[in-house]
Parts: sequence; structure tokens; C-alpha cells
Amino acid sequence: MAAATFPFTPSLLLLFFIFFPALSFADRCLPNDKTTLLKIKNSFFNPNVLLSWDPASDCCGWYVVECNETANHVIGLTILYDQISGSIPDAVSDLTHLQTLRLKKLPLLVGNIPPAIGKLTNLVSLQISWTNISGPVPGFLSNLQNLMFLDLSFNKLSGSIPASLAALPNILEIRLDRNRLTGSIPDSFGQLPRTRPSLILSHNGLSGAIPASLGNVDFGRIDFSRNNFSGDASVLFNASKTTEIIDISRNKFEFDFSRAGFMAGSLITLDLSHNKIWGNIPLKITDAIYLQFLER
Ligand SMILES: *[C@@H]1O[C@H](CO)[C@@H](O)[C@H](O)[C@H]1NC(C)=O
Ligand SMILES: *[C@@H]1O[C@H](CO)[C@@H](O)[C@H](O)[C@H]1NC(C)=O
Ligand SMILES: *[C@@H]1O[C@H](CO)[C@@H](O)[C@H](O)[C@H]1NC(C)=O
Ligand SMILES: *[C@@H]1O[C@H](CO)[C@@H](O)[C@H](O)[C@H]1NC(C)=O
Repeated sequence: MAAATFPFTPSLLLLFFIFFPALSFADRCLPNDKTTLLKIKNSFFNPNVLLSWDPASDCCGWYVVECNETANHVIGLTILYDQISGSIPDAVSDLTHLQTLRLKKLPLLVGNIPPAIGKLTNLVSLQISWTNISGPVPGFLSNLQNLMFLDLSFNKLSGSIPASLAALPNILEIRLDRNRLTGSIPDSFGQLPRTRPSLILSHNGLSGAIPASLGNVDFGRIDFSRNNFSGDASVLFNASKTTEIIDISRNKFEFDFSRAGFMAGSLITLDLSHNKIWGNIPLKITDAIYLQFLER
């Protein structure tokens, strides 16, 4: 019996490969994901960079698309350095398993950050940077409860920072630098999670005092430079903080630095220049490797 079945098995396999090549190799891509990606391509006017997005091929093999190896959902979309034009399409919200969305160095990308982005609740990393995206930093970004990295730097965003952003329980980094933001830092930012978040807000038109609530947060890195902040920033310094980089230069801060607490030796960079800050530097802080203090 064994001898009789032997020649049969390979030819059956061969037939299988001849008649079902798609099943055996080609499409890992889920049909809904493919349809959605093609809508996105179309809304960007079918740019050259997305030439490989051919409906006849497996979308998991398309340029800049990343799929989950077992479930085959699209989990990553990264479009960098291109002349893609148009705005972020609503169709993006149909990529419901997306964990990473990066749109960077796309100078012809315009319009607002659409509510569709707020539906991508699996996002861990959202980067929209070096584009011509304008309008507000939307409050609905707080729907993205898995978000660890939010980078909206180098755009033309305006308006104020939404208080709801503080309600991102896993956030490690918020970058809103190099926009046209105004208003002050919301009080709610004192409720940022205990993840040693970095808060990068430099090169905007932000103003007002640093809320006292920020004293509760152990930041990893703070860059508030080149804004119009005023008042006392000494809440950013105390002995139990492990902040490594603090740049509050080029603002209108005005306070006696002797009132700032010791930092327990974690600081690598401290830049207080171009403010009206006076007084002595607490001893521990002079360990900082890079220090600019009272320069005006
Ligand atoms: C891929 O999907 C499976 C099933 O949904 C999940 O268990 C796994 O963690 C996912 N892997 C990644 C890298 O997302
Ligand atoms: C995008 O911004 C750059 C730099 O500000 C500018 O030169 C360019 O014209 C803008 N493009 C559009 C489509 O607005
Ligand atoms: C700071 O405020 C002054 C007016 O008080 C304004 O002229 C200036 O443009 C502002 N600077 C920034 C960086 O927004
Ligand atoms: C010092 O910083 C820690 C951690 O950021 C905070 O919990 C504490 O309340 C701060 N203490 C004072 C006196 O501000």
C-alpha cells in the first residue's frame, strides 16, 4: 500500500500549486486592507512612490506597508521624503489595526489632522512631521490610549495645546515643536503618567506661566525654548526628579534660581539662557555636562 500512495502524493501537490498559486503563495493581504490602501493611494493622486501598490499583488509586500506576520493585518504605514500631495484621507481610519503611522518630510501634504486619525485606537506611534499640515492639534488624539510616541513637529499647526493630551496613559514623548501654537501649557499636564515623558514644545508662540502642577511630573526631557513663557519655572527642578535635558532658553522667565531644588545628578543638559533668571546655581546642578545659565 505504501508503494502505491507514494507517486500519488507529489502529483497532487503539484496540481495544487498549478491551480491554486494564489492560495499557496500570493495574497497575505486582507481584501479590506487592500481596498483601503488603494483608496489612500488614489486620494494622494497615485504618486510615483506608491507605484508598487498594484491591485494585482499582495499588499503586504507593497512599499512602506507593514503587515502583522500571523494575522496579516496592516499594522504600519510609513511614507517619508516625498512629493505626495493632498491631505490625509478619511479612509485611513479603516486600517483599524494600524500601530504605526509615519508621514514625514512631505512638504505638499496639506489640510488638517482629520478625525479619522482619532479612530486608530491601536496606534502606538503617530508621526506627522515636516509637512504643511495646519489647523489645531486635535483634542481627539486623547482617544489613542495606546499611544507612546506623538510627533507633530515642524508643521503649521496653530491654536492651543488641548488639555486632553495629558490623558494618554502610555505616552513617552510628545513633540509639538516648530509649529505656530499659542496659549499656555494646560494645568492637566500635571497628570501626565509616570512614564518619564518627554515634552518638546520649542519654537512656538506659547506664553504664560508654567503650571505648578508640572512639579508633579518626572519628565525625561523638557524643551520649552523659543516661546514666550514667563514667570517662575523652578517647579521643574527638585531632588526626586530624574530629568536629563532641560532647555527653557529664549523665553521671558523671571525668577531666582536659588529657589530651584537640587537635581540629584541626572541632568546632562541645562539651558536657561536668554531669560531673566538670577541667583545661584544649586551645587548638584553644576554636574550638568552642558550648561548655559545667565547669558542674555
Ligand atoms: C499579530 O497578530 C496576532 C494575532 O492577532 C497577535 O497575537 C500578535 O501580537 C500580533 N503581532 C504583532 C507584532 O502585532
Ligand atoms: C509648504 O511649505 C513650504 C515651506 O514653508 C513652502 O515653501 C511650500 O510652498 C509649501 N507648500 C504648500 C503646498 O503649501
Ligand atoms: C512674544 O510676545 C511678543 C509680544 O508680547 C510678540 O511680539 C512676539 O512675537 C512673541 N514671540 C513669539 C516667539 O511668539
Ligand atoms: C518633586 O518631584 C516629584 C517627581 O516629579 C514630585 O512627585 C514631587 O511632588 C515634587 N516635590 C515638590 C516639592 O515639588
